[in-house]
Amino acid sequence: MREKNGLVRDYARLAPVIPVVTIEDARASIDLAHALIGAGLPVIEITLRTDAALDAIAAIAKAVPEAVIAAGTVLHPSQIGEVVDAGAKFIVTPGTPRELAEALAEAPVPVMPGCATVSEAMTLANLGFDTLKLFPAMASGGAAWLKGINGPLPHLRFCPTGGVDLANAPSLLSLPNVLCVGGTWITPKKALEDGDFAMIARLAREAAALRPRAVD
Ligand code: 3PG
Repeated sequence: MREKNGLVRDYARLAPVIPVVTIEDARASIDLAHALIGAGLPVIEITLRTDAALDAIAAIAKAVPEAVIAAGTVLHPSQIGEVVDAGAKFIVTPGTPRELAEALAEAPVPVMPGCATVSEAMTLANLGFDTLKLFPAMASGGAAWLKGINGPLPHLRFCPTGGVDLANAPSLLSLPNVLCVGGTWITPKKALEDGDFAMIARLAREAAALRPRAVD
């Protein structure tokens, strides 16, 4: 677990923002990955919310090995094997009920499990996870929540996601327990549908210019 936690932190420190992508057509995935990586965002969360998601993960893993692909919206233990087989380098969940958390603790790849309360964060910490997704971050308390939890649980690090955008990301990234943030704003649905990778690259460059404060 220690080694896997270390890898999650390494991934979370690669860029200030993890684009959260819901992809309808896996054929767009390689151009998308090139656009994001070229703009400075090498860590990409592909959510398991569409039929194309596993194919997209597999296509990027094969064609763009420098991409660090997370499988997101992992809801059931049965999905762990599927995303690992597809080539996901790590797993992200929006929330982490006990059964899922216990299965994730045994996963062969690193995991950034989701939580929204202090008790959930403590349960995950007790299972050995030390780098968590706060979701939905802004609805759950945002920067105030993150400042609050840093008192009793200063060893935990977070990737707040959900309601995060270019305007509110700096205040989150200025906190000592935030390694990076996540969000969908870099890959708008219409830009993906239109294959507008120039727009996605522009949004990604803006996001990549943000600077986190947490260093450890
Ligand atoms: C996620 O799964 O992380 C969310 O869907 C992020 O959504 P948002 O950035 O649009 O709030």
